[in-house]
Amino acid sequence: MFDIHCHICYGSDDGAENLETAVEMVALARECGTTGIAATPHCNVPGSYGNYWDETLKEKIALLRSTLSERKIPVEIYEGQEIFCTDKTARLLREGKLITLNGSRYPLIEFDFYEYAQDVYEKLRAITAEGCVPVVAHPERYAFVAEEEDAVFKLKNIGCLLQVNKGSLEGRFGRDAFFASRRLMELRLADAVASDAHSPYMRTPDMRHAHELICEEYSYDYAEFLLEENPRRILRDEDTNRY
Ligand SMILES: [Fe+2]
Repeated sequence: MFDIHCHICYGSDDGAENLETAVEMVALARECGTTGIAATPHCNVPGSYGNYWDETLKEKIALLRSTLSERKIPVEIYEGQEIFCTDKTARLLREGKLITLNGSRYPLIEFDFYEYAQDVYEKLRAITAEGCVPVVAHPERYAFVAEEEDAVFKLKNIGCLLQVNKGSLEGRFGRDAFFASRRLMELRLADAVASDAHSPYMRTPDMRHAHELICEEYSYDYAEFLLEENPRRILRDEDTNRY
């Protein structure tokens, strides 16, 4: 499996606190069948995590990769960010202060959970105007998605991909996120499922249960599509498929 949303850029946000914890998370992911992970620290969050792309973040990723190699944990680590979307996001992507997943056309974008729908659409259009294809992180968790039935179709029409959190499918983020995530699956509007892991103990990078759940409730092919094939295409900057 490939995980395009994971907080293993240690000491940067509310994810892994240090290198050892990040290594523990990656080792767990590997045991659970994941072979590639994008390190996606929160960034561009007003009054909170800045984490603009710089040498500090690059060095952390480099040290994580070399430590994994020394300890023979064969997981490919890709550069990325979980970008909190503001009016400045499109410009900051153009300037290289924010980055896409592994240098692809696909930035991982999150919003305030209570952001107004129209503001979301406007900011996403500004990002697509830069030639990027936004991957909306956990759309099922936003209030406007729960409140407006056609919001998910609007996001798709703008040209976004939709990344569902494994925890939403499992009911760990409340009823609204649970039902919204299931609706995205049933409508076949989800483009990827990711862990959004923050720790090796709670909100972990273990995606086996999500894979099993999708196999049981939908199909094996759909599980492979969401957890393996499409995320791999995203990380390789290939065109994604619709299921
Ligand atoms: Fe996240």
